[in-house]
Formats: sequence, structure tokens, C-alpha cells
Amino acid sequence: MILLDNVSKYYKGDKTPALDEVNLHIQPREFVFLVGESGAGKSTLIKMLTREEKPSYGDIMVGGIDYKYMKKKHIPHLRRRIGVVFQDFKLLPNRTVYENVAFALEIVGVSNSEIKRTVPKVLDLVGLSDKGHKFPGDLSGGERQRVAIARSMARQPKILIADEPTGNLDPENSWGIIRLLEEINNFGTTILVTTHDAEVVNQLKKRVVTLSHGKIIGDQKSGGHYDLDGSRTRIAKRSLGGPAPAAAQQPAQPIVVPKDPVAEAPKEEPAEKEAPKASKTKSGSAVIEQMKKAKASDEAKPVAKRRKFIH
Ligand SMILES: Nc1ncnc2c1ncn2[C@@H]1O[C@H](COP(=O)(O)OP(=O)(O)OP(=O)(O)O)[C@@H](O)[C@H]1O
Ligand SMILES: [Mg+2]
Repeated sequence: MILLDNVSKYYKGDKTPALDEVNLHIQPREFVFLVGESGAGKSTLIKMLTREEKPSYGDIMVGGIDYKYMKKKHIPHLRRRIGVVFQDFKLLPNRTVYENVAFALEIVGVSNSEIKRTVPKVLDLVGLSDKGHKFPGDLSGGERQRVAIARSMARQPKILIADEPTGNLDPENSWGIIRLLEEINNFGTTILVTTHDAEVVNQLKKRVVTLSHGKIIGDQKSGGHYDLDGSRTRIAKRSLGGPAPAAAQQPAQPIVVPKDPVAEAPKEEPAEKEAPKASKTKSGSAVIEQMKKAKASDEAKPVAKRRKFIH
């Protein structure tokens, strides 16, 4: 779950806010496009969620973590729990594809044997099983973005945030990446993606949140269109400063940043989705099944013993 409650952001020295009293509630397992003109505040909103920037006003909660109570030392921990993908991939150029993904696990102390098991599966999921030995410079743009997604998914985050993941790609590769995000969403990961690609947004008919000058001017809950002036959008009351969502009205327990943040209570989870529409590779399905099983067995455990899933 992602919740922004009346969030405003003024960058240093600016009189006008980059985000202006933004209220946004994203449920677990939603797929949301965030659109808006250049400078509308999309990346700023993403940076609020990754804690790259702090809000000037307002509250943010992600996966049960109330950012107000988050200490600096918890920030790297948070970033490991949310997968983030950027337009420019941010891969390590001197490491192979395999090593780029493995590195994401190494830095959080995953054992070598688990890394050896996980990396091939994640590369398989993104369709790059045969490219593990290559360096990023030897890959196409679409393949590089797949590596970035594999890296961000290796730790099985329950939220994947992508800031213009198709911004540097041609239409064919863009569609490949978007289909991959859909597939990842189909096995339960919440996806928030910013884009300028009207065709993709209009064809997918997902929830579309439109920002303009730092304000949410449209929130089409489903069947959304790319509509930057908001004229065709049904504007959600909440997004225009209406009553705050219930969760915001009942602030959560004081510090919600445990050593091991866990998923929201299972009761918040919607029922299992139907079989995904996007076609999957056989091996991709196997990884998905494995993730589902891990999650199911995790939820059966006492909270303190769960693995590190968040929504
Ligand atoms: N680090 C920063 N310091 C100061 N101002 C910033 C900073 N980052 C963004 N801004 C300003 O905040 C506003 C919103 O920028 P942001 O990058 O969030 O827009 P965006 O919607 O992501 O645009 P684009 O589609 O071009 O990526 C802009 O006016 C921008 O100049
Ligand atoms: Mg941006």
C-alpha cells in the first residue's frame, strides 16, 4: 500500500511547489500509470517514495512504514524493499549482466548459494537467460532495461516503481518492458510507472493518475486515458484535497519501521487474481509460482518470522 497524505514539496529556493497537497492511495497489487507534462512533479513524487527527497509538508506511508518516524539508518533498508527502475537503467558498466543482478543481492547479505539459485531464475523471468555473461554495453536498450528490472526484482519487492522505464526505448522494446511489468504485476507486485507514452497508457486501460503543476488533476481508477489537461478524467474527490483516506485519518502505530518490515495484514489483500492475460515463458511461470509459494508460506508464519515482503 502506498499513501500520500497532503504531501507538498518545495525545492530549496523555490516559491512554487513541485508537489502541491497531493493525496494518493494505491492499494496492494494495483498497476498505476503516473502521467503529466514535463516538470509536473512525477519524478519528485517517486523520490518521495524512495526517500531520495523529503516532503516539505504531509505524510507518506509505504507498506506499513510511516516515513515520519523513519530514521536515517532505515533508509537503505527501505530502498531494498522497494524495487526502483530508472529511464537510464543505472547498471554497473564493468560488471556482467549476471553480476549486476547478483550485486543487488550481495549488498544485502544474501548467501552465495542463494545468489546462485536466484539470479538464473530472475534472468529467466525477464527473458535474458542466455545473456548473463554479457556486459551492459553489449546489450540493446530493451535488454538493459530488462537487466535493471531483474535487478530490482531479485529481492522480491512487493512494490516496483519505474520512472519512465521506456523513455529511452523504441516502441517495440517499450512494449516488451510494459508487458514484463504487467506480468510482474500479475503475480502480485504493486506497480507505479511514470510515462509520456500515450499509446501504451491508452491501450492498457489501467488506473491513470495525472499530475499538473504538482497537483493531481485526474485519477481514473480503471480504463484510464492519457489526458494531460484532465478534461476527460473523472477526478477523484480525494485527489483534490477532499476527505483524506481512512488510513490517513487513523495514523498508524508510532514507529512502524521494524528491523524487518513485513507485508500489510493479509486481510487487506484482495483475492488472488485470475490467471494473467500476458503470456509467460514456461520458466517465467516457474519463478512466479515459486514467488507465490514463498509468499503463501510466509503469510502462514508468525509476523516476526516472515520474510521481508512489503506492499
Ligand atoms: N533536485 C531539484 N532541485 C530543484 N528543483 C527541482 C529538482 N528536481 C526537480 N525540480 C523541479 O521540480 C519540478 C518538478 O520536476 P520533476 O522532475 O518532478 O518533473 P517530472 O514530471 O518528472 O518531469 P519530466 O517528465 O520532464 O521528467 C520542476 O519544476 C523541476 O524543475
Ligand atoms: Mg521525471
